Amino acid sequence: MKKNKVIKAIFPVAGLGTRFLPATKSIPKEIMSLVDKPLIQYAIDEARAAGIREFIFVTSRGKGALEDYFDSAPRLESALKRSGKTELLAAVRQTTMESGAIAYIRQHQALGLGHAVWCARRLIANEPFAVILPDDVIAADKPCLQQMVEAYDETGGNIVATMEVPPSQASSYGLLDIGEANGNILSVKGMVEKPDPKDAPSNMAVIGRYILTPKVLQNLNRKMVGAGGEIQLTDAIAKEIADSGNVYGYKFEGKRFDCGSKAGFLKATVAFALNRDDLRDDFLEFLRHIVAKDGLYK
Ligand code: UTP
Repeated sequence: MKKNKVIKAIFPVAGLGTRFLPATKSIPKEIMSLVDKPLIQYAIDEARAAGIREFIFVTSRGKGALEDYFDSAPRLESALKRSGKTELLAAVRQTTMESGAIAYIRQHQALGLGHAVWCARRLIANEPFAVILPDDVIAADKPCLQQMVEAYDETGGNIVATMEVPPSQASSYGLLDIGEANGNILSVKGMVEKPDPKDAPSNMAVIGRYILTPKVLQNLNRKMVGAGGEIQLTDAIAKEIADSGNVYGYKFEGKRFDCGSKAGFLKATVAFALNRDDLRDDFLEFLRHIVAKDGLYK
C-alpha cells in the first residue's frame, strides 16, 4: 500500500509553562533561547530537515510573540543590509515562514497535550502527521524527526521517540511496554502515562516527537481524561496499540535536553554554548573558574 508522505507537523505550544514563572507570565516558553536561538527555531529547523512543509501551531492567550517571531521584519532586515551584517541578516531571514505554510489554532483551555493535538484535527484531515514538543531539544547528527520519518517509511505505523531514563525518573514520563527490537525500531505492546513506579512496564520513556496516523486523532474524539486530570496523547496512542498494534518505539540517535525544566534548560544552554566556536574558549575558562570556586563568582 502506498503511504502518504509526512508533510504536516503540529507544535503544541498552548501550555502554561508554570515551571518558568514568572518569566512565562509574558514570554512564551518557546521563545526562550539557547544562547541566541529560541526553542521554537530548533523545532522548526528539525521539522524542515525531515521534509515538513505545513506547520500547525496550537497556541493560547499570550503567545502572540510566537506569531511575530515568524513574520517578516522589513525594517530590521534593511537596517542589517545597510550596515553589511550579512550573517545576521541570513539568520533573521531563516526565521521568516512562507505565507500559508504556517497556521495557528487556539486551544481555549489547557486540557492536556492530547486535547491540544485534537484541536488541529481539521487541518490534519486524513494524513499522517508529526507532533513536535519544542521543549524537548535534541542535538543529533541526523535530526531526530528525520530518523523517525525514515522509520515511518519502513513500517507505515505510528512512531514514538523513546529513550532509556533512570528508573527513579521513569514515572514522570509516558512509558512503553516493549516487545521485539529490529535495530532502533521497537515493537510496542502497551503505553502508560506517568504510572506508579510499581506499575512501570519499563524505563523506556516517550519523549516529545511523534509520527501519528489519523486514527489517533479519532481516538482523541473520545476526550478521555487520564493521568493528572488531562486529556493525554498517550491514552489515544495506547488505544491504537490495543486496536491495531500499529505502534512502534524509535530509539533515536542523539542527546535530548528537557528544556521544559530549569535544570534541563541550563544544561542545554551550557552544552550549546560550548559547541559554539565564537563562545567556547571564553565560556569554558569561566566555567572552570566558577566550578573551582564552588559557584561563587568572585
Ligand atoms: P508540559 O507538560 O511541559 O506543560 O507540556 P507546560 O504547560 O508547557 O509547562 P509546565 O509543566 O506548566 O511548566 C508539554 C507540551 O504540551 C503543550 C505544552 O505547550 C508543551 O509544548 N501543551 C500542554 C499544550 O499545548 N496544551 C496543554 O493543554 C498542555
